[in-house]
Amino acid sequence: MVAFFIFAQNEAYLKAVDDFLKRKLQERQEAGIYRELKPENDKIDFCSNDYLGFAHSAVLKQSIAHEVNSHPLSLNGSAGSRLLSGNIQYAEDLEQQIATYHQSEAGLLFNSGYDANLGLLSSLAQRGDTIILDELVHASIIDGARLSYANRYSFKHSDLESLEAKLKIAKGNCYVVIESVYSMDGDTPPLFEILNLTEKYNAALIIDEAHAVGLYPKGLVCELDLQQRVFARVITFGKALGGHGSIVLGSSDLRNYLINFARSFIYTTAASFHQLAAIKMAYQLLENSSEAIISLKNNIELFKQEVNTGENFTLLNSDSPIQCMILGSNEMAREAAKQLQMNNLDVRPILSPTVAQGTERIRICLHSFNTENELTLLAATLNKFILLHAR
Ligand SMILES: Cc1ncc(COP(=O)(O)O)c(C=O)c1O
Repeated sequence: MVAFFIFAQNEAYLKAVDDFLKRKLQERQEAGIYRELKPENDKIDFCSNDYLGFAHSAVLKQSIAHEVNSHPLSLNGSAGSRLLSGNIQYAEDLEQQIATYHQSEAGLLFNSGYDANLGLLSSLAQRGDTIILDELVHASIIDGARLSYANRYSFKHSDLESLEAKLKIAKGNCYVVIESVYSMDGDTPPLFEILNLTEKYNAALIIDEAHAVGLYPKGLVCELDLQQRVFARVITFGKALGGHGSIVLGSSDLRNYLINFARSFIYTTAASFHQLAAIKMAYQLLENSSEAIISLKNNIELFKQEVNTGENFTLLNSDSPIQCMILGSNEMAREAAKQLQMNNLDVRPILSPTVAQGTERIRICLHSFNTENELTLLAATLNKFILLHAR
């Protein structure tokens, strides 16, 4: 009897939870923002972050296979976290090689960029400290800051006055976090001015370079020779490097600190040998990719020349592979993406709440391997859509 009562109570509770899930999903569907996984397609790629074509490079695939095969004793999986059985000399050597490449003293690998930002921000800032974020930083940075006990502020996107206002009220150790190429707008912040401000207020600057590496081989910080003035950099391997994982670059003290305190580093299984080999080989390929980088830059220029936004729509100001056209509503963004998809062009809409209401857009990712014909088709289809919807 007691057992039946507990079972019935449990069943009622599970039904309540299930009802909650259904209600939340229904709300999303009604708002037109329901997320679904879609299978891969063979449309022209204007969507992936594979800026230099590394993810589908046969040359890279071969060199990874060769690297794996020439380490016959390597394991299939790491079989443990780095602090227990999962560490190998190869990982430590790779960290130092990558750090040296980006002109940093040291580096620590994480399993993803998400993990890196989570571990870095949640462990660094203590109660009484302050984290100041650009309002457009990636979700992983926001989540990392949320997991810390620090005071948190955001400043208007790349706005120096707004940043300074927050720096003036910061308490304790202060960390300012920005991206060198913003993932949703594709633009670049005024790095020199931001650095001057953070130095004026003794704040440590952290820069996420996820989308900058590739366009600038070593990232924008190295490109501008600012590496000595930046406290930490996050580099991810899932974009132009065509793989998966990330590294936090900084001092040896920062590396040791993260090994001791970053929970997303400590409590997770280390990357497999295959993943490490893929990262190492991708860096070798990057050193020989000057032609691909030139093609990427040419494609960005060509696209910007050919698109004619008219008066109603804005193409965000960006010199990066991320080109966004603001369409102002979820419906319009979805409609533009649909038209492009119908022309065999893989472009996705970015809807609110992922971006602020009124800034719903299509986000176009350009690549070194996109041909002139593909770019012309993309621009012509967009121009037609713009003309059709001109008010
Ligand atoms: C700026 C930025 N940082 C971090 C990440 C997360 O990196 P990862 O995909 O390796 O988890 C992304 C991914 O979209 C990003 O755009």
